[in-house]
Amino acid sequence: MYEERIKRRDLRQKITSAEQAATLFKDRMVVASSGFTKAGDSKAVLKALASTTPATPLSITLLTGASLGHDTDGALAEAGILYKRMPFQVDPALRKKINSGEVLFTDQHLGESATLVEEKIIPRLDIAVIEALLIEEDGSIVPTTSVGNSATFAAAADRIIVEINLSVPLSLYGVHDIFSAGIWPEKQIIPITTTGARVGRPSIPADPEKIVAVVLTTTTDSPASINERDEKTTAIAAHLLDFFSHEISKGRLPQSLRPLQSGIGKVANAVMEGFMDGDFHHLTMYSEVIQDSAFNLIDAGKLEMASASSITVSQACYNRVFSNFEKYKPHIVLRPQDISNAAEVIRRLGVISINTAIECDIYGNVNSTHIGGTAMMNGIGGSNDFARNAYLSIFVTQSSSKAGGISHIVPMASHIDNTEHDVDIIVTENGLADLRGLAPRERARLIISKCAHASYKDELNNYFTNACSRGGHTPHLLQEALSWHSRFIENGTMLKTVHV
Ligand code: COA
Repeated sequence: MYEERIKRRDLRQKITSAEQAATLFKDRMVVASSGFTKAGDSKAVLKALASTTPATPLSITLLTGASLGHDTDGALAEAGILYKRMPFQVDPALRKKINSGEVLFTDQHLGESATLVEEKIIPRLDIAVIEALLIEEDGSIVPTTSVGNSATFAAAADRIIVEINLSVPLSLYGVHDIFSAGIWPEKQIIPITTTGARVGRPSIPADPEKIVAVVLTTTTDSPASINERDEKTTAIAAHLLDFFSHEISKGRLPQSLRPLQSGIGKVANAVMEGFMDGDFHHLTMYSEVIQDSAFNLIDAGKLEMASASSITVSQACYNRVFSNFEKYKPHIVLRPQDISNAAEVIRRLGVISINTAIECDIYGNVNSTHIGGTAMMNGIGGSNDFARNAYLSIFVTQSSSKAGGISHIVPMASHIDNTEHDVDIIVTENGLADLRGLAPRERARLIISKCAHASYKDELNNYFTNACSRGGHTPHLLQEALSWHSRFIENGTMLKTVHV
């Protein structure tokens, strides 16, 4: 069965077990792996590495596209094998180790993470593990459900281990578009002018001499968890859909909108689901992840083309899509993440970017990564690649949570990932603040009145009024600006006055 997937005959001699391949890893190695938001990741070799008991100390730096599935990040962290991890993760066990300082984490824009390797800021890659649909006769590698940074890794690594995943249908062949713009100073224009444009090749070039092991697997991707729409996410989606209709009525957007990007998180996914109800047609996506909502929109005849770096879906959606991939293939392109997240293309296409905030401040600065300003949640991912360069940069969040103890609109964000200069729209279940063209004082009034939770409005207005009395272009009371966060730590609520 594997012969049709390993077209280069000499590589068939290199088939080995995951455990055997895991013995190739040595202390202080820099290891790269395929995998982007749990899709197309190493399912056997890194797992085997996490469960080996090495005779000598083993501590590696691990680079990927984005997060790994099957708790692999957590297993590696708990085995004490990770020295440093980059550029993104979502694993609770790894998160704990990052926040205790036991594992170093470089939180890097996903669209720029390949540059660290290409520019040799990370001077060498010892081994790259890449999940593949098949290996071509020339040794080039056809990836599976994600592309991520695998093309950069295959080019830079000294040695490559390929995991051929026999469970992924061969009908995926042709969905990938592998393009490299090269390196400075000869970097080329990325000639993508429509979401579905194909400008590259179907496989990742790889020197067959570097392929030192081939491991066969049948494990499917970790399923994404589905978050059913609830009252809040439905309300947020409704505000956004009204806003888009308004923009269409003003002639600023066509009925098909502009290419959509939707980030991870339950709210962003619910917003995409919201398009099922709206009067929008011929939609397109230029995003980094294709989630369940995109396939539902394709089935409904609303979404024509989705370009991304990975397909990350629930188990039910996975079964539906991959048992009939020929149906979906004309609507999908999977690209390397420095192309799916390329500033140049996002700006040219006029992408509408929708991402989730942990908190927003009254001027529109957004924290997407740090709880209470210090504890890492997941990482910035591609949110900034898109938000900085989009035509419309939208951030969604609920107005309050934890039984009202947290206001997601705060006087000053405790950490800033996306600055006020890059944030056009903030939406909560209460309403939508269109911040375009507004000065900081106008932004604050609008964000408080439209987005804040009713129980926090007075306190936010008091803060803003007192800050304005002290003057400034962006008025703040520095002694009080972060007091909401310390109050939450001390009292379990950001509220000054708790009404009982
Ligand atoms: N203070 C304290 N805790 C907070 C908080 C705040 N202001 N905001 C969120 N949290 C906690 C929640 O309570 C929840 O904790 P719990 O699991 O213990 O209940 C957790 O953080 C996640 O919040 P939730 O609202 O469930 O998150 P989500 O699934 O909508 O994801 C982000 C929100 C911001 C964490 C997620 O979108 C993310 O990681 N974004 C950055 C990466 C990104 O945007 N990529 C985009 C391109 S794909």
